[in-house]
Amino acid sequence: MQKLIEIKNLKMYYPIIDGLMGNIKGYVYALNNVNLEIYENEILGLVGESGSGKSTLGNCIVKLITPKSGEILFENENIINQTKKDLKLYRKQVQLIFQNPYMSLNPRMKIYDILKEPFIVHKIKEKKIINEKIKKIISLIGLGEDVLERYPHEFSGGQRQRIAIARAIILNPKFVVADEPVSALDVSIQAQIVNLLLDLKHHLNLTMLFISHDLSVIKFISDRIAVMYLGEIVEISEKGELFKNYKHPYTQALLSAVPKIDNKNSEKIILKGDLPSQQDLPKGCKFHTRCKYVMEKCKNISPELYNIAGDHKVRCFLYEK
Ligand SMILES: Nc1ncnc2c1ncn2[C@@H]1O[C@H](COP(=O)(O)OP(=O)(O)OP(=O)(O)O)[C@@H](O)[C@H]1O
Ligand code: SF4
Ligand SMILES: [Mg+2]
Repeated sequence: MQKLIEIKNLKMYYPIIDGLMGNIKGYVYALNNVNLEIYENEILGLVGESGSGKSTLGNCIVKLITPKSGEILFENENIINQTKKDLKLYRKQVQLIFQNPYMSLNPRMKIYDILKEPFIVHKIKEKKIINEKIKKIISLIGLGEDVLERYPHEFSGGQRQRIAIARAIILNPKFVVADEPVSALDVSIQAQIVNLLLDLKHHLNLTMLFISHDLSVIKFISDRIAVMYLGEIVEISEKGELFKNYKHPYTQALLSAVPKIDNKNSEKIILKGDLPSQQDLPKGCKFHTRCKYVMEKCKNISPELYNIAGDHKVRCFLYEK
């Protein structure tokens, strides 16, 4: 498998500003040493509870924000300190689909103009090429050409998300971050959009980071799954292996919370305590304050991601070799 993206030791923290004086009074540590590879043509699902750093990671990859340290290699080039010219080219190759299709489309623009905008940004002027591409993409996302003269408010949530997806893929990106792309939609519509993303992935050879806190959606769409806790990847594996053979105590708790139709008696693991403050992270293993297997060393030393089988990695001393 060819790597498209390789993330090395990525860290990101946000300053907390004292309202009165404007001084920095601390930091929210959102990403704490993320190491991750994303292979060409795969959908990598990213799960973890609210605040674990999923969007921060996605936003760093598409360069909406700049991480504090670490590397993001895209086709082996570090994209953190790019020249303006390289950045423009990169922005054409990576796109973000947001959660809320109500907010991501400009209400004053017709759909035609919304879809034309990426061409203007990238100084593509040939009207014939643009119009052909817009027609093709509209059909690919399952809408008719009549939508082009209408405004976003005339569409349902699902249709708007289709249009937002069309805008994201219209310049043939190689990589898309889909950040909770179905969470704002009615459950009845979610499957249609997930299926559309799968179709587009196959049609356009897309690679995708699919962020969600909904494990059933992640299970359906992903090829591999990464589990995040307090700004670190704690487990990563091919999907089938992860659901069959999950190892990290946090993943165990996360997966046991999913109702199982075929196993009504499965024990639900309730996590002890709250998510620790991200301004003052626990020393050692970041999960130790809630882990039922905690050992003395977990409180002081941070575990690495240990390889357990094939591509399956777990950040926990229980699997140290
Ligand atoms: N612009 C910001 N300024 C300060 N703190 C921020 C900012 N953006 C995110 N954070 C904090 O960083 C941490 C990680 O946030 P992030 O949005 O990446 O999490 P998430 O996993 O996407 O959560 P959710 O599932 O709720 O979308 C959280 O504690 C969040 O409050
Ligand atoms: S390293 Fe220790 S505290 Fe952390 S998950 Fe493993 S057993 Fe639990
Ligand atoms: Mg988020």
